[in-house]
This record gives sequence, structure tokens and C-alpha cells, in this order.
Amino acid sequence: MKTIVILFAISFVAVLGHPELTDEDIAKHKEHHESCMNENGLNESTVVNKWKDDNDEKLNCYKTCLLKKSGTMNADGKIDVEVARANLEKKDIASEKIEEMINACKDVTGTGCEMGRDVFKCFMQFYPQE
Ligand SMILES: *[C@@H]1O[C@H](CO)[C@@H](O)[C@H](O)[C@H]1NC(C)=O
Repeated sequence: MKTIVILFAISFVAVLGHPELTDEDIAKHKEHHESCMNENGLNESTVVNKWKDDNDEKLNCYKTCLLKKSGTMNADGKIDVEVARANLEKKDIASEKIEEMINACKDVTGTGCEMGRDVFKCFMQFYPQE
């Protein structure tokens, strides 16, 4: 269960009640998750256990990989506001909060995989902690 919670948390999905999310959305997310783990030599337990370790380069690259695959980060390493908004709208998040999140996080910059880490960190501030 913990894995599922994390898996969903990282794609900005709260845990329960998401009628807007199709099976296809979920399947796509799982595929991104798996290929990003493979690319970075990570496994499920490392991702879960090290999620909050900001200094783990592999984890940071995994986070960056997820953002790229979902299109939230474009090829130039910038946040694609339209895609980010569309992804967030599929979750159960109030639209004012979405705008707040996007405004706060769209200009996050960083070198290499630190970018992904910082973008996630920024978005996660808007989620209640476990
Ligand atoms: C996951 O990877 C870590 C670090 O490489 C390793 O210690 C651990 O045994 C692996 N766990 C599984 C379930 O494969």
C-alpha cells in the first residue's frame, strides 16, 4: 500500500477518489514510473525509501525523468504550464490551488537532475504531509 501511496503522490495524485483519472492515465503513469526506475537503476523500495533524500542523484534523475515523460517538463528543461495544468486538472484539486501551484513552481530552475528534485519539492509543498 505504501508503494501505491507514494506512486500516486509523486504523480500529484491524491490517494482516493479520482474519477477523472482513466485506466489509461494510470497505466501511462506506471509505465513512466517503471522506465524511469530502469533508466536510473532504481527499484521500487529504493524509490519509496529515498523519496525524501534530496541528495540522491539517482532519485533526482528519476523525478526529472517522470516530469519529462509526463510532458510537465519540456525538452528545454522548462515547465510546460499548459501540460502541468492539464495534468493537475485530472486530479482532485481546486482550480485556484492549481493556479497557485503553477505560479509558485513554473519558474523553478536547476542544473541537470536538481531541476526535477526542486520542481517536485515545490509542488509537494501544496500537499499535506503524511
Ligand atoms: C533495491 O535496490 C537496493 C539498492 O541497490 C538493494 O539493496 C535492494 O536489495 C533492492 N531491492 C529489491 C527488492 O530488489
